Amino acid sequence: MSDLPRASDPHQPADAHAGASLRHTRAKGEPRFPDGPKADPAGSHFERRIRSFQPRRSRVTTGQADALQRLWPLWGLDVDGQRDLDLGELFGDARPVVLEIGFGMGEATARMAAADPGTNILAVDVHTPGQGNLLALAERHGLSNIRVANGDAIILLREMLAPGSLSGLRVYFPDPWPKTRHHKRRLIQAEFLTLAATRLAPGALVHCATDWEPYAEQMLDELTAHPDFENTAPGGGFAPRPAHRPLTRFEGQGLDKGHVVNDLLFRRVPLRDAHEEQPPTG
Ligand SMILES: C[S@@+](CC[C@H](N)C(=O)[O-])C[C@H]1O[C@@H](n2cnc3c(N)ncnc32)[C@H](O)[C@@H]1O
Repeated sequence: MSDLPRASDPHQPADAHAGASLRHTRAKGEPRFPDGPKADPAGSHFERRIRSFQPRRSRVTTGQADALQRLWPLWGLDVDGQRDLDLGELFGDARPVVLEIGFGMGEATARMAAADPGTNILAVDVHTPGQGNLLALAERHGLSNIRVANGDAIILLREMLAPGSLSGLRVYFPDPWPKTRHHKRRLIQAEFLTLAATRLAPGALVHCATDWEPYAEQMLDELTAHPDFENTAPGGGFAPRPAHRPLTRFEGQGLDKGHVVNDLLFRRVPLRDAHEEQPPTG
């Protein structure tokens, strides 16, 4: 994996055909990638819900398009919200599965998958070029422990993943939504944490990182206040950056602007005993 592109260079595309864009030759209504990810697989444009991402049509290079066409049927899945995912079947083994939300171009995801082949990574994003890029990286580096999900992580968690099925959650540099009127779009909020907690096995680690300090403070407050999570950092604050988290593309851009990066490492607490929930008798 040493030849994986360094995420510190945000202008270095990972695929071999960098710079070449996919020519728009489709007829109106024709799918962008017939065998690839679908546009809005859950039909969520019709769901009135605040989203943590900005839908955008992005340029897909020929290398990314090629990866999407060839590899999507093998390693991709649309988040359509219509079926329960069997993670053992999806990965073809029973290794623990970590969900990464918002992998961007996927360089850090590929590095982590290569460094830890005993862990399966279910990587979800709505960003089509990134999906192609990550598939290309997985093929190039022989990474069989990555599956790429296309769609909204909320629908994946809510409709498709079984309770307690995840052994970890990674959210690296989620969109910071800096304007006050957009704060409601931030992913890491109490409601999201409550949903995520139901899908995480007891002891599962939640690892977040951000270069936007007000958001880092919000993450710390929300996670600290949440009864389903406990801080693994000895002092109860931000965690030292774990050596296993590679520099991500957005992190590199943030550091170039002089931003401070904070990591948060929380653990899903053991499920409360059913009779602990009963009202006291006598
Ligand atoms: C700021 S980028 C960070 C990408 C990458 N982790 C990095 O550090 O370079 C945030 C990514 O999260 C994705 N995202 C935001 N909300 C999402 C959601 N609800 N479901 C799936 N992806 C989401 C966006 O599409 C975007 O690619």
